[in-house]
Amino acid sequence: MEAAAKRERDSSPLNIPNSSSGSSAVEFHSGASPSVRTGSWKMLSSQLYEGMSILHPRMDKERDSGLTVIHCDSQYDKGTYSTYMEKEIFEQPNSTERTLKGRVDFDNYKVVLRGIQPYMDEINRCRRMIMIGAGTSFHIAVATRQLIEELTELPVMVELASDFLDREVPVFRDDVCLFISQSGETAATLEALRYCKGREALVMGITNTVNSTLSKETYCGVHANGGVEIGVASTKSFTSQILTLVMFALMMAEDFMKKQGRIKQIIDGLKLLPDQMRTVLELKDTIKEYGREIHEKKSLLIMGRGYQYATCMEGAFKVKEVAYMHSEGILSGELKHGPLALIDEDMPVVMIISSDCTYDKCMNALQQVTARHGRPIILCTEDHDFSAYASKIIKVPKTVDCLQGCVNIIPLQLLAMYLAQHRGHDVDRPRNLVKAVTDDS
Ligand code: G6P
Repeated sequence: MEAAAKRERDSSPLNIPNSSSGSSAVEFHSGASPSVRTGSWKMLSSQLYEGMSILHPRMDKERDSGLTVIHCDSQYDKGTYSTYMEKEIFEQPNSTERTLKGRVDFDNYKVVLRGIQPYMDEINRCRRMIMIGAGTSFHIAVATRQLIEELTELPVMVELASDFLDREVPVFRDDVCLFISQSGETAATLEALRYCKGREALVMGITNTVNSTLSKETYCGVHANGGVEIGVASTKSFTSQILTLVMFALMMAEDFMKKQGRIKQIIDGLKLLPDQMRTVLELKDTIKEYGREIHEKKSLLIMGRGYQYATCMEGAFKVKEVAYMHSEGILSGELKHGPLALIDEDMPVVMIISSDCTYDKCMNALQQVTARHGRPIILCTEDHDFSAYASKIIKVPKTVDCLQGCVNIIPLQLLAMYLAQHRGHDVDRPRNLVKAVTDDS
């Protein structure tokens, strides 16, 4: 009751921090309880934003932010890359470092996200978490649900914003509703946010856009700090927002003694991730060639399970968005319930084989596909040899199960981009699509 009242008091979008106080952006929340907020996550959650433009270059309306907006166009230069999509794919090692910087203490195995710190007690008391987003942001929810369930031991629902609204899902004041949006402006996601707020749930945001509507209207949240993303197809914001949610899960579990080993394992994994991404990016020529070989096909199936189901969905989404080619992310546990009928020697298939607890089941799916004369491209970690099963293999560095998707998505982003280029399409401006869908008709 008291918590809900506090939320109501704090919910005004006019609750803007006093930027003239001289306090550094990262100090806004330290030690403060939600009722005595001295600032807000909504404006700046990291010093990394200082001096940068806070407007998306395609958003021409200045927002009533109370912040000085410094435009620096060179920031949006494509540099040596031919497209923004390519640039943003290749930026991922750096955007990953930015996302983690100042938040993960690799020596002491601690994570601090100041934008949510004052709300941690209340978040820890919730009965259920609901993760809500659209498009790539929904895939981010699917990619991180398993870890949040594991580390919090809470029931976690993942929802497409439009469907959540259509169903008028019951929401309660002891729910934490977590909204994910790269732009922070997607109409359906914002409508779902207002719906949950009206039911007095605690509403949290994860966004890559400082000063977005999402960041203004949620009580607390975290900026992904991935940097401005211009290509319509999300790439670096996918990995940065996944990592933001991984950090959130780690922070939620910090007081669980039994989770300490797992926390250390993941933080060690985070440290190696940028270099592992650099290694994957070196595969670009191989992937370009695989793209050339299948670019005239009508369809591409991408299969995996466990943590990699979200990678498959996101990979297929990229292919649809920029290559205008039918593509489907398939949970390999569902293979025998329909998709197996599509398999023959002509159907292009990518199979992700994970070196985790799903490995045996992935192998079973691979055998099912090859027994139907399927000739999959296998995306696997370096610790396995699949040369007996396929001629096209993409070997990537192995990391912790919950981070493997951030490595595995890179070859799929590259494949989508090269498929589009072989088919003659502009990857930065795919037909019929916009970066942020701001009307919900
Ligand atoms: C549009 C974009 C997608 C994006 C989705 C959600 O459909 O074309 O690439 O994933 O909106 O956007 P958001 O900004 O809410 O993450």
